[in-house]
Amino acid sequence: MSSIKEGHILIIGSGLIGRSWAMVFASGGYKVKLYDIMEQQITTALENIGKQMEELEKSGMLRGSLSVQLQISLISGCTDLKSAVEGATYIQECTPENLELKKKLFAQLDLLASERAVIGSSTSCLSPTKLFTGLKHVKQCIVAHPVNPPYYVPLVELVPHPKTDPATVEKTYALMKEIGQSPVKLMREIDGFALNRLQYAIISEAWRLVQAGVISPTDLDLVMSEGLGMRYAFMGPFETAHLNAEGFKSYCERYGDGIKRVVQAFGPVPEFSGEVEQKIDQALCENIPADSDHLNTRREWRDTCLSHLAKLKKEMQSN
Ligand code: NAI
Repeated sequence: MSSIKEGHILIIGSGLIGRSWAMVFASGGYKVKLYDIMEQQITTALENIGKQMEELEKSGMLRGSLSVQLQISLISGCTDLKSAVEGATYIQECTPENLELKKKLFAQLDLLASERAVIGSSTSCLSPTKLFTGLKHVKQCIVAHPVNPPYYVPLVELVPHPKTDPATVEKTYALMKEIGQSPVKLMREIDGFALNRLQYAIISEAWRLVQAGVISPTDLDLVMSEGLGMRYAFMGPFETAHLNAEGFKSYCERYGDGIKRVVQAFGPVPEFSGEVEQKIDQALCENIPADSDHLNTRREWRDTCLSHLAKLKKEMQSN
């Protein structure tokens, strides 16, 4: 049973990711301050969060054990950075993916943060070295990269700066577990972290298969959604291999040579533009035209699917 926790969490940036993080922390019983440079953005965010949480409650998908009203009341807006930082035990930065902007913000936080607060960044692809080098509080800084939307997809990649204190990694790991996310630790920084490296490997080979005329864009998406994706929602490539033979060693013995042959035949890095881009875009737009109404409807459908999947995964884990 969750109860209200000591201190508060500060979310900086109340856009798509900041809102979702705020809901995740509130579901874990944390008071959340949502800071933004645009006051109107905070007002819209708070309204949107309240609406989303009430809808989640109605559909039985609200996370955590606190009532919806209590969870909503735990989140408040704030336009003064100094008072927002005061008393914050954990800070999650969610500003736009712009190195200069983020560096400026971390320099401000460096002056304001206590010796205790962990400072996490949601960045998708900026390295901890670029973001945190030179900060007085670098030991307390870490990348905590979520997957959109974090309320439904629990993975968080924790990526330390070379000077991040191991205690910061452990504290962040424990906090993420406590609020129901699934943290993983990268031992050192690498471009793309782990998730995007895998995602980019997939999108590159998908592109090459369409480019070579082997498969249509629509069927390629089905290969993932009706094939690989079905089991990848429950287990990774290593466990898949382990179960697809008499253990992992037997899998490598049986299939290792074949995998090497296929991977060696992969083509060059795609350009991600031109004719193939046109072909994929056209196939996608036949079903989902790229205007905001159609995209938003499909995003809502995706989020509903993800919330049902999250529920199923929880049920399967307790079996
Ligand atoms: P967004 O554009 O939706 O929201 C950014 C918010 O930051 C806006 O509300 C803006 O007013 C505010 N902001 C701008 N400058 C600020 C400042 N100096 N101080 C405080 N607030 C400021 O962006 P989004 O999509 O939420 O992304 C945020 C971060 O999360 C980025 O680093 C992004 O790479 C990362 N991320 C995004 C994912 C996605 O799929 N959207 C997935 C995983 C990570």
